[in-house]
Amino acid sequence: MRKFVRLLCLPLFSIAIFQACQNTPQETYEAEWLGETRQEIINNIEDQFQGFSRTMVEVSYRYKELYWAGMDENREYAEYQREHIEEALQQGFMRRPEREASAQQFVSTALPEMEEVIQMGDKERFLETFTRFTASCNTCHAMEEVAFMTVKIPEERYTVIHF
Ligand code: HEC
Repeated sequence: MRKFVRLLCLPLFSIAIFQACQNTPQETYEAEWLGETRQEIINNIEDQFQGFSRTMVEVSYRYKELYWAGMDENREYAEYQREHIEEALQQGFMRRPEREASAQQFVSTALPEMEEVIQMGDKERFLETFTRFTASCNTCHAMEEVAFMTVKIPEERYTVIHF
């Protein structure tokens, strides 16, 4: 009889421990403003990264810098900005995958074409390509129903970087 009780107790005891582990209260974290639970923190980090407009603020800064780098015939700085436009877009697609299809023409044509012309170091060709590059920004804006945001070739240099 005692053996029977022991045999019965062991599985019951294991189940009780298993359930206790499952019910452990959610871990809490210390953060100044991100939240306390893991889920709250994840949600707040995602919110802080924001959507595609954040990407565009970065892209438009880099677009202007790219233009002036081309005008200055500073190939290294132009390529640096072109590369970072691509990187910023890829990060933007991670946050907003539904935007990627409209950017296809920009990513697979405008960006590689720009890379090629930067390497050539020909200012005239750069200008021609930059006009197409700009049109490609606007094509995506039209496809994404923000055609009222019209990108135009910069007229004024506002950067603090001078060459
Ligand atoms: C996905 C295709 C796509 C491409 C490619 C694209 N844009 Fe945009 N752009 C958008 C969308 C969508 C918005 C509106 C974002 C929103 O509503 O969150 C936007 C907004 C903007 C804004 C306004 C940002 C703000 O909130 O102040 C600027 C400036 C801008 N784009 C510049 C550019 C430039 C310059 C290029 C090319 C180098 C470019 N965009 C290429 C889709 C694109």
